[in-house]
Amino acid sequence: MLVSATEMLKKAKAGHYAVGQFNINNLEWTKAILLTAKELRSPVILGVSEGAGKYMGGFDAVVGMVNGLMKGLDIDVPVALHLDHGTYDGCYKCIEAGFSSIMFDGSHYPIAENVEKTTELVQAAHRKGLSIEAEVGSIGGEEDGVVGMGECADPNECKQVADLGVDFLAAGIGNIHGKYPANWAGLSFETLDAIQQKTGELPLVLHGGTGIPADMIKKAITLGVAKINVNTECQLAFADATRKYIEAGKDLEGKGFDPRKLLAPGFDAIKATVKEKMELFGSVGKAE
Ligand code: 13P
Repeated sequence: MLVSATEMLKKAKAGHYAVGQFNINNLEWTKAILLTAKELRSPVILGVSEGAGKYMGGFDAVVGMVNGLMKGLDIDVPVALHLDHGTYDGCYKCIEAGFSSIMFDGSHYPIAENVEKTTELVQAAHRKGLSIEAEVGSIGGEEDGVVGMGECADPNECKQVADLGVDFLAAGIGNIHGKYPANWAGLSFETLDAIQQKTGELPLVLHGGTGIPADMIKKAITLGVAKINVNTECQLAFADATRKYIEAGKDLEGKGFDPRKLLAPGFDAIKATVKEKMELFGSVGKAE
């Protein structure tokens, strides 16, 4: 059964590790992430952007697929199904569809409007037992059409939104969706530290997990990050493994064109990426 992400992230923050949010795009992605979590006894969060939800045939289709896989693969570790960078309307749709967690990204609104909409959605989510993430300051780069300038969050605004009863908070600290440019200045630990001082026990979320060096990830966890989002890295791993299979002409050998064979190297590559991240984040063995 899907669970809200509240408990798993409280435990992660107290235990000084982070739970990975891995975004899903289709059945292969979902199966690879769920099986890796089960094998490593790790809690996990499946992230679904609105664009990916639409691609998969709508939020009901996503909920049906995830619940079906949980049952069929006997997934017995905590799994949350989470809307990533949700709009106001998208949040309501996911609450109705059976997600167990939502993110309302009101970071592009003036702070007063972000506060007003977040307040309303906190109540709507909690009424149905879902956890809710909010965002202050923006994550740079582009993800599925959501574009951010990447400004660092104001710790006072973080405190203001934390006090609305959100379960975890994404705050811009110089992180970027997608690959990091060569001249990237790195994460602003000063900002992260100031945010944690203001928000206390609240688990913090680090978006843009792709390509952040291991030492920065570890430091961010010591400063209160308990959830780390990874999307692009699984896409790159999948594409790379699939290209190698095709370039080696394997799809032309025997029944190598069978989708179960054609997609297998990419599937294995996602599993390897998720495993590497779970080990780095310290969530292995934390399912119980
Ligand atoms: P990356 O694509 O950079 O890993 O970011 C993922 C993310 O933050 C999803 O919200």
